[in-house]
Amino acid sequence: MRADLIVGLQWGDEGKGKIVDLLAQEFDYVVRYQGGHNAGHTIVLDGKKYALHLIPSGILNPKAINVIGNGVVVSPAALIKEMAQFENLQGRLYVSDKAHMIFEHHAAIDAAKEARRGKNAIGTTGRGIGPSYADKVARAGFRIGELLDPKVLVAKMMDYYEEHRPLFEALGVAIPTHEQVAVEIEGYARALAPFIADTTQIVWNAIDRDKRVLLEGAQGTLLDIDHGTYPFVTSSTTIAGGACSGVGLAPKEIGKVIGIAKAYTTRVGNGPFPTEDHGEDGERIRKAGAEFGTTTGRPRRCGWFDAVAMRYACRLNGTDDVALMKLDCLDGFERIKVCVAYEVDGKRIDYVPADLSRVVPVYEEMPGWKSVVGIRHYDQLPETAKQYIQKIEDVVGVRVRLISTSPDRLDTIKR
Ligand code: IMP
Repeated sequence: MRADLIVGLQWGDEGKGKIVDLLAQEFDYVVRYQGGHNAGHTIVLDGKKYALHLIPSGILNPKAINVIGNGVVVSPAALIKEMAQFENLQGRLYVSDKAHMIFEHHAAIDAAKEARRGKNAIGTTGRGIGPSYADKVARAGFRIGELLDPKVLVAKMMDYYEEHRPLFEALGVAIPTHEQVAVEIEGYARALAPFIADTTQIVWNAIDRDKRVLLEGAQGTLLDIDHGTYPFVTSSTTIAGGACSGVGLAPKEIGKVIGIAKAYTTRVGNGPFPTEDHGEDGERIRKAGAEFGTTTGRPRRCGWFDAVAMRYACRLNGTDDVALMKLDCLDGFERIKVCVAYEVDGKRIDYVPADLSRVVPVYEEMPGWKSVVGIRHYDQLPETAKQYIQKIEDVVGVRVRLISTSPDRLDTIKR
């Protein structure tokens, strides 16, 4: 049995949470493969709210096993806090011994670098994601498995602080004492040791036993470190291919790829966004979609659907099916715009170039609809909503199989 995968097709916040939550019921294993606690969504179950940043969404299905793969960067402090929302996690949650850790100094470096960038800031979530991945690639990072030998880890960390002292001092980042580090690490080790495992073996065993495995992507395709709008990206491989290295899977072990997109586009943080609307329409979408970041509370930038960027994202991920989220948030617009091509220096192009800041969107306008809220059958959608979906399918070349018409899990059209 191959592992299925869910990936964001835009700049994150596509509503993956609702679909993963919906599908997690059918899966035996839910596995994160990249990112860290920069991600986040809230799931409401039986009237109780759960905030998930690192723990896979399968945690709300009592039968599912949840895995934080080696490609994730894990803040032990954030993970422990998140775990406190749940009982009886033993045997239901595993974290890779090869996943790299995020410490307080990573977040401090993230903040200090952002402050120095001034108006060129990336607009990171300030969680220390970039600095932790940078240490990993520089072969200076610390892996979760090292928590199993706290004394050795503490000594290594003190060496690391000494080596990086000039950088820390230049950025005004405090270096903790040996005692502080020892207390912190021992606490993490006590809390996390029972959950540390060779998660590659766990996932291989699951696949070999024909268990259903869902790979849960975080952020979105256009935030990918290689294929996104660099440098305004996150520091991981967010595309489907990231699951190969981020879990330890061969490409042929990935089965169906489900891409998630909103019926419009949003972005948090800085960087190019061709279809952004700075006027009333953008404001109206922000209100209708309650577009404020779950992790940082920042208002999201809003705009029209970008079918060019979507086609690029679908190809990069090998997307089989698309789930179109928040269609109801476009309710009541008289006209709806879809970006069907770009222009650069007066020349029309239909692909995403390396520098997206120079493109001008070419729009097609379509008639809107009154309301699709709560519709659960495709046939019941207004004709104009069907035409909108058809337009997206035609330009992108992928079938829209799921359509979400309200935050409720059940208000989802399946085709
Ligand atoms: P970082 O991942 O904190 O380094 O932030 C880098 C960029 O990715 C910024 O533009 C963030 O706003 C964006 N970003 C990171 N995580 C998410 C997410 O979960 N949703 C949307 N944007 C995100």
